[in-house]
Amino acid sequence: MLSLLFLALAVRASPAPAGTFNILSMNVAGLPAILNGNGESGDKTTNTALIGQTFNKYDFDVIHVQEDFNYHATLYANDNHAFRTATSGGVPFGSGLNTLSKFDWLDFARVKWDTCSNASENDCLTPKGFTFMRLRIDEGVYVDCYNLHADAGTEAGDETARAANLKQVANYIDTWSTGNAVLVFGDTNSRYTRTDDGIRVFKTQNGLTDAWVQDIEGGTYPAAGANALLCPNGVPTDADCEVVDKVLYRGSALVALTNTGFFYDTARFLSPDLKTLTDHNPVRVGFAWTLASTLRQSDLQGGPHGTWFTDLPSLPAAPKARVLTLSGAKRLDSVAITLTSGANFKHGGTGGTAASLTLATGEAIVSGTLCWAQYKNHTRNFYAQFTTSAGRTVTTGTMTSDCATMVAPTGFGVVGFFGQDGDEMDQLGFIYAKQ
Ligand SMILES: *[C@@H]1O[C@H](CO)[C@@H](O)[C@H](O)[C@H]1NC(C)=O
Ligand SMILES: *[C@@H]1O[C@H](CO)[C@@H](O)[C@H](O)[C@H]1NC(C)=O
Repeated sequence: MLSLLFLALAVRASPAPAGTFNILSMNVAGLPAILNGNGESGDKTTNTALIGQTFNKYDFDVIHVQEDFNYHATLYANDNHAFRTATSGGVPFGSGLNTLSKFDWLDFARVKWDTCSNASENDCLTPKGFTFMRLRIDEGVYVDCYNLHADAGTEAGDETARAANLKQVANYIDTWSTGNAVLVFGDTNSRYTRTDDGIRVFKTQNGLTDAWVQDIEGGTYPAAGANALLCPNGVPTDADCEVVDKVLYRGSALVALTNTGFFYDTARFLSPDLKTLTDHNPVRVGFAWTLASTLRQSDLQGGPHGTWFTDLPSLPAAPKARVLTLSGAKRLDSVAITLTSGANFKHGGTGGTAASLTLATGEAIVSGTLCWAQYKNHTRNFYAQFTTSAGRTVTTGTMTSDCATMVAPTGFGVVGFFGQDGDEMDQLGFIYAKQ
């Protein structure tokens, strides 16, 4: 009976090795009209409905909106993306940040800025900040997406607050996206031509590439202190002008991301009398993704708690597993793997009884079963069993009614792990390498 259940739940790890998707960043100017008219013609409810309809009309895969405040219900009523964040509220309760996506995600978080400034505009009026989600593009293929709306204005207090905002995102990326592909797209309220905005932190600290600089400026950043490269009002004739809505990205050892084109989509978002619907140019970027020929990952199982880890950046060339050690009792406490190179990785806590398996030369770990359940109201992994190419197994923990068996692609074996841990194993996925 149980083995039948496992058969039904078995997930084959054979993601398409490549694909494409596009993203859109758009400030939808949804502050109440009484606070901010934005100088757009047409009333905001009508404009917002047109924006939602346009989200459907074109093939946008992942959309980040900012200032999605008091017309949010209208926006969602006119859009039909399958996966959308729940609003955090209108002014003065919400951040105005939402995501509309064709892909599902894990681990969504809303983070408020540590710093805001009253120097100009209304940056402390409403709890602005950024959002984080681990977008699932395909099986085992995740891209960490950050939406943001940084402090506006150019008074000294604004510059200080904005640089602190962007640094806060950069630090979060270092903690939560180590080893991962990353996309930051949102309203940075920053220009490379301004000296004190701090927008270069994503390049210097996180190794992100700016899609506009790369595609439109030939890879050359505008000089700090130069005149602003302002876009004209209305529809720009090309993208050779700088806006504060930015797209920055990086790939990982697992998945390469390629920028296939940067566009201002202003002409797509016009009223019937050809007036703009917001005071920002919507920014679209196309991406192609390709998996490394020798690496794959499983999906993550468990709950979004604990601290992020991944062995991906630490893998030696041509990794092969030598010893796999699982520790557990009632639940899965830890996983540890030693490679033939001598490298070893351990994740989770210190509890449990250890069970080890030493692999023979040529033997690989070809599948793993995880079971999860709730403990103290948080989902975590309770059970793990791995099977080798020789049919040997190592097991720990206790089974639950929620299990998945993840199978390495033919010719691949488990060589490491990624996920989130604490004193136990909250969330776990497998890294496979070609053997
Ligand atoms: C901004 O102004 C509001 C309202 O006056 C005040 O409550 C808040 O403390 C101010 N914040 C800062 C950072 O100055
Ligand atoms: C779990 O959640 C329930 C319902 O919200 C609550 O009553 C209970 O105290 C929580 N238990 C723990 C261990 O946090």
